[in-house]
Amino acid sequence: MDKFLINGPCKIKGNVSISGSKNASLPILAATLLFDQPVIIKNLPRVRDINTMLNLLKSLGSKIILSRDKKTAKIFNKKNMKTFASYSLVKTMRGSILVLGPLISKYHRSKISLPGGCLIGARPINYHLTALKKLGMKYKLKDGYILATSKGKLKGTIINFPKISVGATENSIIAACLAKGKTILKNCAIEPEIKDLTNFLNNAGAKIKWSGRTCKIIGVNFLNKTEYAVMSDRIEAGTFCVAATLAKGNLKIKNLNPKVIRTEINLLKKVGAKIKTCQNEILVKGPEKIKSIKSIKTKEFPGIPTDLQAQLMVLMCKATGKSSITESIFENRFMHVAELQRLGAKIIVKNNTAIIEGKTKFVGAELMSSDLRASVALVLAAIVSKGKSYINRIYHLDRGYEKIENKLKKIGVKIKRLK
Ligand code: UD1
Repeated sequence: MDKFLINGPCKIKGNVSISGSKNASLPILAATLLFDQPVIIKNLPRVRDINTMLNLLKSLGSKIILSRDKKTAKIFNKKNMKTFASYSLVKTMRGSILVLGPLISKYHRSKISLPGGCLIGARPINYHLTALKKLGMKYKLKDGYILATSKGKLKGTIINFPKISVGATENSIIAACLAKGKTILKNCAIEPEIKDLTNFLNNAGAKIKWSGRTCKIIGVNFLNKTEYAVMSDRIEAGTFCVAATLAKGNLKIKNLNPKVIRTEINLLKKVGAKIKTCQNEILVKGPEKIKSIKSIKTKEFPGIPTDLQAQLMVLMCKATGKSSITESIFENRFMHVAELQRLGAKIIVKNNTAIIEGKTKFVGAELMSSDLRASVALVLAAIVSKGKSYINRIYHLDRGYEKIENKLKKIGVKIKRLK
């Protein structure tokens, strides 16, 4: 299994270009199942989760032609697509559940493996199922599979999500595009990736309108041939902003609209970073001393993203005082704490809040990745640790960060992939 060797502390300087967003690409690729006409998706990141989704689409019958750099996919669907998604495909990526909405909407049947839990929590899909049921899907759970059918077209209705969920909002929007009549979704997630999905669908002729957390969809009979470039990855950009702040860096982050990470930028400014933004670029200069923030809390967009929580914890470890981070989205997203402690961090976890001592002098150690964002936090910590750190199980990083070691090498990080 591949691992990273990082020899710290490293200086961060130079330019980095942000790749396409994984979390926007996944629902957009799933939504291509709605189309009879060819679809071209550009700016896909070259990461493992995207390969998994493309393989899932292929297993359902889509023909996919990838460009040389593998960032553009031309997708052609057959008349009779398959509607079965096996456990072996779904278990590697929870996002696979996003094919349920389009399959039931377009083909009125589907058998999909239940995704199961993952390390960051139980991650149920009850909101997806309840919403699709309201639209007319009938389902039963059998032998670890969701067996779903609908009597012809889904029917537009009013759905009020009891809790904000990114995936459930996406699945319902996709499903409602071809439903009969009007669907009104209330208490939706409004992450930029969801707006990217609805821009894509509207480009193809869908009728979707937003007003705050309410999404109104008027069903159409079909979607048109279309070409769309996925937005850039705001979590990757946020990670590089944290890296520069952490390592007294001087970094130009290119290819991202700074508006989508406004909250993160404001937080980093409070910490002491000097940040300038232009139309599609962010300049970050890390401070000599990192100021602590008393209380950071993850929240749905436009709040601090849970996907940046682990990276911010590394930053607070190096701050001049005590801080706390409360994780309010997932119940068990502190696996990185034990690994950061191995590098010297002083962190106490009480329920869903981590109290961080600050002024940590990280010393390199052998570490274990547990999930995607925890892994990148370990990389950040290793960058500011003294000596060698080995980060094991980096396949988690390969799921969501495109060529991370190349990007880091280019900005001054001494990093090597060991096979
Ligand atoms: C998506 C992102 C993930 C991010 C998360 C929160 C993708 C592929 N993944 O995950 O990177 O961390 O949003 O911003 O875009 N929940 C239920 N029942 C459901 C659905 C969700 O209880 O049916 C709970 C979850 O366990 C979690 C919370 O709701 O506690 C939010 O989850 P959700 O927003 O659905 O996250 P994902 O779509 O899985």
